[in-house]
Amino acid sequence: MLRIGLLGAGRIGNVHAQAISDHPESILAMVSDALTESAEKLAATYGAEARSSSEIIGDPGIDAVLIATPTDTHSDLIEAATLAGKAVLCEKPVDLSLDRALACQNAVAASGQPVMIGFNRRFDPGFGSLKTAVDVGEIGAPELLSITSFDPAPPPIEYVKVSGGLFRDMTIHDFDLANFIMGELPVSVSAVGTSTVDPAIAEAGDVDTAVVTMTYADGKIAVIKNSRRAVYGYDQRVEILGSGGLLQAQNVLENTVVKSTAAGVISAKPTYFFLERYMPAYRAEWDAFVAAIKTGSEVPVTLADGVAALAMAEAATRSVRSGAPVQLDEILKPVAK
Ligand SMILES: NC(=O)c1ccc[n+]([C@@H]2O[C@H](COP(=O)([O-])OP(=O)(O)OC[C@H]3O[C@@H](n4cnc5c(N)ncnc54)[C@H](O)[C@@H]3O)[C@@H](O)[C@H]2O)c1
Repeated sequence: MLRIGLLGAGRIGNVHAQAISDHPESILAMVSDALTESAEKLAATYGAEARSSSEIIGDPGIDAVLIATPTDTHSDLIEAATLAGKAVLCEKPVDLSLDRALACQNAVAASGQPVMIGFNRRFDPGFGSLKTAVDVGEIGAPELLSITSFDPAPPPIEYVKVSGGLFRDMTIHDFDLANFIMGELPVSVSAVGTSTVDPAIAEAGDVDTAVVTMTYADGKIAVIKNSRRAVYGYDQRVEILGSGGLLQAQNVLENTVVKSTAAGVISAKPTYFFLERYMPAYRAEWDAFVAAIKTGSEVPVTLADGVAALAMAEAATRSVRSGAPVQLDEILKPVAK
């Protein structure tokens, strides 16, 4: 039985607490939060202890920690936990700063501890099936990947201000999904972004609507379309065209009823947001982490995967400013051994 310490008892921390507790081979032993009452409340729900993050990291009875704190704390906590000999599952992104994330990658390599990054979309059943179909050649050679990722509504402006921007906070999932499906990194990243949803987002220096185009060494192309607002719900679709056909992973709907009348054909909306849409994926992500730790195999989403996605976010941010494509190898330098 793995004894788990959860750092951060906010929105996503609550989701992970449930998955940890439900898993037959893990137990939620300790919870921390900057707000003591939040840690106490979540700990009480699962019969865990509320402790500080440093107490959890330093406790020899803890096997692994799950980091679900704000992004600007991730690298520090990953380093502290791995130095203390813990396996880590950390939420995305690795950091707001690519340089800090690269330094973290170096420190973790020296520790030898496994660190998995929480790119939950890799564990979505629909996207997983699409990936398998691509890998076994069901559509021949992949040529054009298209990812649509629209949130139902923008986050609070206070969140936007500390999020690191749309590309580091939101598109980062889509960058990783593209890397997962294509099985390689692009060579160049181009992006355009505007703020059409909320002027306050522009005032905060961010964009809420964006298109990213990526090219690959052999000529493949990937396109990511993002918006912070889709009035019909959380729009999460993937389409990939290959030399032998097309694969599409469609939205998950609130229910499967389709009403056909003389007025038209109506189906339910997509599920509202990430907590509804990706709940099975968060559970599968935790299953995969536990399996990797128990068997000693490599975690399925590595710290290097997290750093690569962050580098693509950095490239997109620079491309929006300059109006020119950015070569990924200009900013993603190999980690020194
Ligand atoms: N994978 C996903 O789908 C997904 C979804 C949401 C959020 N996230 C990521 O998870 C992280 C947390 O996001 P959230 O929406 O849950 O935020 P949140 O604000 O709801 O929760 C964060 C919690 O961490 C606490 N905290 C702050 N500093 C801390 C520290 N040093 N030690 C312990 N607790 C601390 C805060 O008090 C808060 O309760 C972010 O990095 C975000 O990008 C990922």
